[in-house]
Amino acid sequence: MKCRVCRGPAVIDVRRQNANYCPEHFLRMCRDQVAKAIDEFAMIRPGERVLMTVSGGKDSLMGWDVLRELGYEVDGFCISLGIGEYSAASTAAARAFADERGWPLEVVDLREEHGFDVPTAAHVTRRVPCSACGLSKRHLFDDAARRGGYDVVATGHNLDDEAAVLFGNVLRWDAEYLGRQLPVLPERNGFPRKVKPLVRLAERETAAYCVLRGIDYIVEECPMAEGNKHLGYKAALNAIEAESPGSKHVVYFHFLREASALFASRTAQEADALGACGRCGAPTTGDLCAFCRLQERTAGHEPVELKPRRKAPT
Ligand code: FES
Ligand code: ZN
Ligand code: ZN
Repeated sequence: MKCRVCRGPAVIDVRRQNANYCPEHFLRMCRDQVAKAIDEFAMIRPGERVLMTVSGGKDSLMGWDVLRELGYEVDGFCISLGIGEYSAASTAAARAFADERGWPLEVVDLREEHGFDVPTAAHVTRRVPCSACGLSKRHLFDDAARRGGYDVVATGHNLDDEAAVLFGNVLRWDAEYLGRQLPVLPERNGFPRKVKPLVRLAERETAAYCVLRGIDYIVEECPMAEGNKHLGYKAALNAIEAESPGSKHVVYFHFLREASALFASRTAQEADALGACGRCGAPTTGDLCAFCRLQERTAGHEPVELKPRRKAPT
């Protein structure tokens, strides 16, 4: 196996590109793909301050590393969600990564600072944990960006994530979500711009990048996500990709080019009707934002024992 660029010994193959790479040129390819995504979708403008949301997993730590390598001013933000050992380990990985480099990282503990955690919220609302988790993340990312004066919030979503979300949205023909599924959501009504600079890289590549750069990331996935639909969609797409390399890239980028604009009007209508939350001031359609409503519902509730979901059949 020889490197596509220098013909030296290769350590990784990227089947969808029909190419092999040595460590140096693989890392360069990853950075180039991130730079290309930023450029193609006008994600970050020169001089803007970026807040990278980090979980301690491979994608977010890689994203933070690459954005800094590309010369952007990027600080980190991490939420401790109260999901037992998993949250403790992921927060520790994020802290260790930031400390080693001397990069600023803010950690918010959901229970300590907002009075609830994800397992308790899931129990009280009788909904899947990912629902309270996603809601809390979105709210706290926006809030951190406003407080810190950041122009952009960057997340570590990779090509596998976006293709799987697209697959799920198409299975339900969820027009509103399809209209919002973009690598960039512009700033509006008090929300910062949201960008996904890793959309041109597959999960296997973000993992390989971390290994080659000596980045210690937490390998375990969230125990509450086991058996959820998103992981099922990923598995289905992996089977297609194995037969036909490049399928994930094609389905996602052709969607962006050919179809996403067709769903945009749904999202625009929703955006017009926002006011300010009576409690925290966040933009919302009601009197209280969804995060404050969740906080009210869970107030005073004893922490609930962590109950991982059953495993998906393999
Ligand atoms: Fe959100 Fe697991 S990381 S529920
Ligand atoms: Zn090479
Ligand atoms: Zn609120």
